[in-house]
Amino acid sequence: MTKYQLMVNGEARQFEASPDMPLLWVLRDKLKLKGTKFGCGIAQCGACTVHVNGQPVRSCMLPVAGVSGPVTTIEGLSQEGELHPLQSAWIEHDVPQCGYCQSGQIMSAAALLAANRKPTDAEIDGAMAGNYCRCGTYVRIRAAIHTAASYYNAASTAAPVANNLTSKGAAE
Ligand code: FES
Ligand code: FES
Repeated sequence: MTKYQLMVNGEARQFEASPDMPLLWVLRDKLKLKGTKFGCGIAQCGACTVHVNGQPVRSCMLPVAGVSGPVTTIEGLSQEGELHPLQSAWIEHDVPQCGYCQSGQIMSAAALLAANRKPTDAEIDGAMAGNYCRCGTYVRIRAAIHTAASYYNAASTAAPVANNLTSKGAAE
């Protein structure tokens, strides 16, 4: 066992783990952040997606010893009690079915919108291609990403864009 300290969702978290323990299991079992899901364990389904240094990673295949920066999970995506625009849009479009894949879907979508505030359908499909949904919610996911992008773009014409935007969907 090795002692580690990681910044997770803006907090310094300390724990002991084997260096080869995947980040997914550190998050779920050591830090009790259960929003990130195990799907395949071989970086093929996207259910375990979190951000490291703002980039989407498959936490099931990333050893904790290889984590090189701050980690954000679905629990830390929203800030100061407000929903992230994607979470508002997910509610507006009633995206989830069983819900199992959805935290990974939202984390991948968040990385996309951080880099591209107005993605096309093709850009969305490309960015989300590694996130599988057994319930087939892809059409609603794409619509929700467009809606979240519209929240950002509407805000940018009125005021500086905050990471978390209050929206009609957030209030419902
Ligand atoms: S559980 Fe990590 S990609 Fe499937
Ligand atoms: S909502 Fe069921 S797997 Fe995606």
